[in-house]
Amino acid sequence: MTAYDARFRVWRGDAEGGSLRDFTVEVHDGEVVLDIVHRIQATQASDLAVRWNCKAGKCGSCSAEVNGRPRLMCMTRMSVFARDETVTITPLRAFPVVRDLVTDVSFNYAKAREVPAFVPPEGVAAGAYRMQQVDVERSQEFRKCIECFLCQDTCHVVRDHEENKAAFAGPRFLMRVAELDMHPLDAAAEAGLDRKRAAQEEHGLGYCNITKCCTEVCPEGIRITDNALIPLKERAVDRKYDPLVWLGSRIRRR
Ligand code: SF4
Ligand code: F3S
Ligand code: FES
Repeated sequence: MTAYDARFRVWRGDAEGGSLRDFTVEVHDGEVVLDIVHRIQATQASDLAVRWNCKAGKCGSCSAEVNGRPRLMCMTRMSVFARDETVTITPLRAFPVVRDLVTDVSFNYAKAREVPAFVPPEGVAAGAYRMQQVDVERSQEFRKCIECFLCQDTCHVVRDHEENKAAFAGPRFLMRVAELDMHPLDAAAEAGLDRKRAAQEEHGLGYCNITKCCTEVCPEGIRITDNALIPLKERAVDRKYDPLVWLGSRIRRR
């Protein structure tokens, strides 16, 4: 087991402002960035605020920016950095700072509430639902989401544009709309809900210009852009420009 001293810069402050502070910390084999943050708390700054829970990449709590890239601190191995490299840890940039590395992610909970839940089909008991395996697999990919909000943080539509937040749900919640719209048993249309129209007019699907940054940072490897956002755009365009789809939706609404 070898240990070495590494240089870290950690953002400290609150909603009023703050700055980067320098720390020199011992690093051991196999450690991750969250271990280092814990060592800073234990030895140099006991009041350093950080949110974490599972230390296994499953709770989505320890999201931060490491050398400017949105990452889970518990899944970022120190071995990916050169020993003489300064590692800079800052809070998620797209959300307001509460203190140090902790941000207020309530924007995401508000957006979650704006997406209507799955509408069960009428006349089919819950245990009697039947779906093709291919449809099950499609939803399962999206359901791997751990709600770390790294994709929400990295998307340029809101990252530097606070003014877009009201109109844009972000990749995580557009993916949720896509999942429900592709669900073969979702009876939203029969209940008068048009998920494709809502994707465009209420959740800001048109703001996404397919840069794929969300997909690149997803720790679950979900192909957000290719498997959710692009198909949702195609379905929404079909609804708008195909006269038969339009006519069908009018008839179903009666
Ligand atoms: Fe995190 Fe991926 Fe879910 Fe986005 S889609 S919140 S990056 S797990
Ligand atoms: Fe943003 Fe992802 Fe679209 S990063 S622009 S939601 S492809
Ligand atoms: Fe749970 Fe990192 S502590 S994902």
